[in-house]
Amino acid sequence: MFEVDYIPSEKPLFNIRLCTNKRLNKDKLPSCGGRGSRDLADTIEKTLLEQSIPAKLIRSPCMNNCKIGPNLKIQGAALYNEITAETLPDIITAIKAEVDRRKAEAGENA
Ligand code: FES
Repeated sequence: MFEVDYIPSEKPLFNIRLCTNKRLNKDKLPSCGGRGSRDLADTIEKTLLEQSIPAKLIRSPCMNNCKIGPNLKIQGAALYNEITAETLPDIITAIKAEVDRRKAEAGENA
């Protein structure tokens, strides 16, 4: 975790679920937490705050795709597998695009 004295200005428009499950490996399956998803979660949360992106990260339990994790789901949009620090910028871009899409949709319906 990290400390930040920033308060988001906007209410989150949607949630992002990132599996941070770390298993004890009694069954020899990989886990997202064992592949670094907890560090990825810290980075995503920090980016959301720093860039004022109105989305909320939820550290989720197992999403039943353990062999292709870490797994991240943008609520109402794409599911990403095998995410790494290298693929994170693309996912942040996708999150921003989803924010823009939802804002445009809300504008059309207002
Ligand atoms: S441990 Fe992440 S999907 Fe199962």
